[in-house]
Amino acid sequence: MNPEKKIKLLREDIQLHNHRYYVLSQPTISDFEFDQLYDELLRLESQYPEYDDQNSPTKRVGSDVISEFKSFSHVEPMLSLSNTYSEKELLDFDTRLKKLTNDPIQYVCELKYDGVSISIEYKNGILVQALTRGDGVKGDDVTNNVKTIKSIPLKLQGDFPDHFFIRGEIFLNLKTFAELNSQRKKKNLTLFSNPRNTASGTLKMQKSSEVAKRNLDCYLYYIIGKNLPSKCHYENLQKAKKWGFKIPSEINLKKDIHGVVSFTKYWEEKKLNLPFEIDGVVIKVNSLIQQKNMGFTSKFPRWAIAYKFKTQQVETILESISYQVGRTGAVTPVANLKPVNISGTIVKRASLHNADQIFKLDVRVGDHVFLEKGGEIIPKIVGVNLAKRNLFNNQELIFINRCPECDYLLERNDGEAQHYCRNHNYCPPQIKGKIEHFVSRKAMNIDSIGKKQIEKLYNEGLLTQISDLYSLRKNDLINLRGFEETSVEKLLFAIQSSKKVKFEKVLFALGIRFVGETVAKIIVKQFKSIDRLLKASFEDLKMADEIGEKIAYSIKEYFADEKNIFLINSLKSNGLQFELEEQLFSSQILEGKSIVVSGVFFKKSRSEIKNIVEQNGGKNSSSISTKTSFIIAGKNMGPKKRILAGQLGIKLLTEDDFLAMIY
Ligand code: IVH
Repeated sequence: MNPEKKIKLLREDIQLHNHRYYVLSQPTISDFEFDQLYDELLRLESQYPEYDDQNSPTKRVGSDVISEFKSFSHVEPMLSLSNTYSEKELLDFDTRLKKLTNDPIQYVCELKYDGVSISIEYKNGILVQALTRGDGVKGDDVTNNVKTIKSIPLKLQGDFPDHFFIRGEIFLNLKTFAELNSQRKKKNLTLFSNPRNTASGTLKMQKSSEVAKRNLDCYLYYIIGKNLPSKCHYENLQKAKKWGFKIPSEINLKKDIHGVVSFTKYWEEKKLNLPFEIDGVVIKVNSLIQQKNMGFTSKFPRWAIAYKFKTQQVETILESISYQVGRTGAVTPVANLKPVNISGTIVKRASLHNADQIFKLDVRVGDHVFLEKGGEIIPKIVGVNLAKRNLFNNQELIFINRCPECDYLLERNDGEAQHYCRNHNYCPPQIKGKIEHFVSRKAMNIDSIGKKQIEKLYNEGLLTQISDLYSLRKNDLINLRGFEETSVEKLLFAIQSSKKVKFEKVLFALGIRFVGETVAKIIVKQFKSIDRLLKASFEDLKMADEIGEKIAYSIKEYFADEKNIFLINSLKSNGLQFELEEQLFSSQILEGKSIVVSGVFFKKSRSEIKNIVEQNGGKNSSSISTKTSFIIAGKNMGPKKRILAGQLGIKLLTEDDFLAMIY
């Protein structure tokens, strides 16, 4: 047999055995036999490098090359699910959905795996890209790492669609996790706290060869694509299983919500028997047509929900309280606890939020406190075990009155829960926090610098205010520990590139209180340049759409500080964007057309789409009528509108259709 053919057959054979072992858990050959096939393939591949294939099973061992995780947009945002905690909330979910359809609703129940979500793209049966969830809209490319996970097929079998995305959860099963920790113990390394964080850390490791050693696993539970085999979620997953994916085995089709409730009860009781961790159940509408009609809210799909299991409460001792100062000067009390294990995580600290919370709980140093790990990551103190309070512990906690970092007198405004240190320009954690916010992904996106590097440069006196970023020189940096040459170059390049970042992001990056991403966009749209914004009076600001007194006051306060004006001028002279790039394109192709824009868009914002309509001669209308020429329908256009459009025979254009029509 010629070597090319032999290599091909060996690859197919090994792929088949991998699938039987890792996906079906039904191996048909011994490990020894498998190793022989594998070694034979390795030998032939090194002898005939001309037949190299990135998807060969031998590539699963990963490589020592340092990966860069470039970010890419998701085809459809990776949303989370809204949570429910009781049977009643499940029944409410069902009642809500029944109002949106006249047909009976079947539900698919799945387990809610406690891992990290992943979106994997397949073209012509080949894995081409894997993205983490990231901020939901954009994720990091972790393809090389994902390719090392043996239960994820690199090549599909059977009758699969040409192009689709499949999402799922990467996790570590409990046995693998325990083995990993016992190896670490032998090597005197710190132990990992729980499988979820370990899986998430592993996925972002820079060497895929290291990832390969960790034995991650993956369940796939959601397919997105145009030519899916069935109009039902359940059927599609069964097909995906045939293509080679590991799909949840604990999946059940229920004909009504009562079946769903029994499923949740069953698993709430049996969850500890599973070889991996789950934190609830996920319930999805089975029919894809119903899913489409029900649509999405801006945060969640309407057609799916998570049922979270009750959280575990544990008791521990409050040893001391420390105070953290954030970038806005807000002071947060933090409880330092006697370390305790809550569902696999060792917890040493918990947030106490603010002075009111301390007062409400009447918690005192030395108390036995009840701790709960809510659905999310940060544990909270929910009460005090008064029966165990030491009789002599009659000292109520008194909130500090000076900043723990710079000794400035703290203030607390009426109506605000938080204490603040207003020494904004000189208090170290505030300066460092502002720089961290400035470089963050949603702001200037200078991704080659993080908390640690900022701390180091701050301590070296090289970065004591935001504008110093633009004066960093290669020679200052290369001699510093942790800044080897390649990363210095990357950092300087990222800083230069940030000069092209749009004004709305620059404005957000300044970190003005209450000016989040959305408010920054609104301000930029209305005031267009920093000069006009600086000239705006308190009244002008308040009059602007969606800007209330609180935001207006905060903006004026920020500009009243001459250090901030100095910062803006310095950033301006460094070439950052402080003006809106106006849309240059205009035409009359929409003349006489009445257009309804509805839903959420991804390439442009809804108001940008509306501007484009007007710039091209069209008229925006808020309601659908017989006069409507067409609808530009975003992702979560409401089901009622969709039905009405259908009844009136009005055409729906997607965002892409519309932009293609204009440009
Ligand atoms: S479906 C649009 N199914 O839970 C539907 N998610 O809070 C997308 N998760 O981000 C999600 N098990 O990481 C789905 N069987 C399951 C799941 C599951 C775990 C995670 C997932 C998601 C989060 C939602």
